Amino acid sequence: HGELRGVVALDGPSGTGKSSVARRLASTLGARYLDTGAMYRAITLAVLRAGVDLADPAEVTRVARAATLVQGTDPERSTTHLDGADVGVEIRGPEVTLAVSPVSAVAEVRALLVAEQRRVIATALDDAGGIVVEGRDIGTVVAPDAALKVYVTADAEARAARRAKQDAASGRASTLDATLADVQRRDAYDSTRAVSPLRAADDAVVLDTTSLDLAGVLAALLALVDEHGLLA
Ligand code: DC
Repeated sequence: HGELRGVVALDGPSGTGKSSVARRLASTLGARYLDTGAMYRAITLAVLRAGVDLADPAEVTRVARAATLVQGTDPERSTTHLDGADVGVEIRGPEVTLAVSPVSAVAEVRALLVAEQRRVIATALDDAGGIVVEGRDIGTVVAPDAALKVYVTADAEARAARRAKQDAASGRASTLDATLADVQRRDAYDSTRAVSPLRAADDAVVLDTTSLDLAGVLAALLALVDEHGLLA
C-alpha cells in the first residue's frame, strides 16, 4: 500500500466502527494512531477518582490540570497512562462512559487536550511521517489543515447494535434498547454542546458505514487516502 504522509482526521459519533478502522488504517500504512476519545476518558477517570462534582467546571479543570496523561500512538497497542498507571481497561467501563460527556464539554479541558493532541501529532509526523487521528473535533479544531478529513457516520440503530456486540464481547451486560438510548443521549449531548460540537468539517468526506463491514470501511478509507495523494 505504501506509507501514509500527513494527517488523516477521522471524526464522527460513537459506534460507527471508526476506532477499529482507524487503528487498522494506521497499521496498514505504517503510520501512528491517536485515539483522542481515550484522552477525554482518562481525564474523566481522574475526575471520578477525585470525587469532584461533574457539574463544576472549575473543579473539573483543576483535576484535569493536575493529571499526567500519556497517550501512546502505536496502532498495534494503543495505550493510555494516567499518573503513571495503565488505565486502558478502566476508561472503557460504564462509569467513565456515563460521565465523559459533561467532562468533555468543559472549555478548559478541551483547550488542555487539544494542545497536547497537537503536540503528539507534530511528534508523530517527525518520527513516522503520518498519523491517523480519531475523535469528534479533529477536522474542525485539532487539525484543520489535515490532508484528508473523513466524517464517519451510520444510522443510530446500526451504531447501537455494534456497541451492544462490543459490550457482549468484553463481558459487559447490556440490552439493545438501553444501548440505543445511550447512543442517542450522547449524540444529542455531543452535537449540541457550546464548545466544539460534533459536526463534519466543511471540507470533510462523509462516509456512511451503515451497510459496510470493517473490511468495506477500510477499503473505502484506503481509496480516499490514495485519491488524495497521501501515499509515499
Ligand atoms: O470515541 P469515544 O467514545 O472514546 O469518546 C468518548 C467521549 O469523548 C465522547 O462522548 C465524546 C468525547 N470526545 C470529544 O469530545 N472530542 C474528541 N476529540 C474525542 C472524544
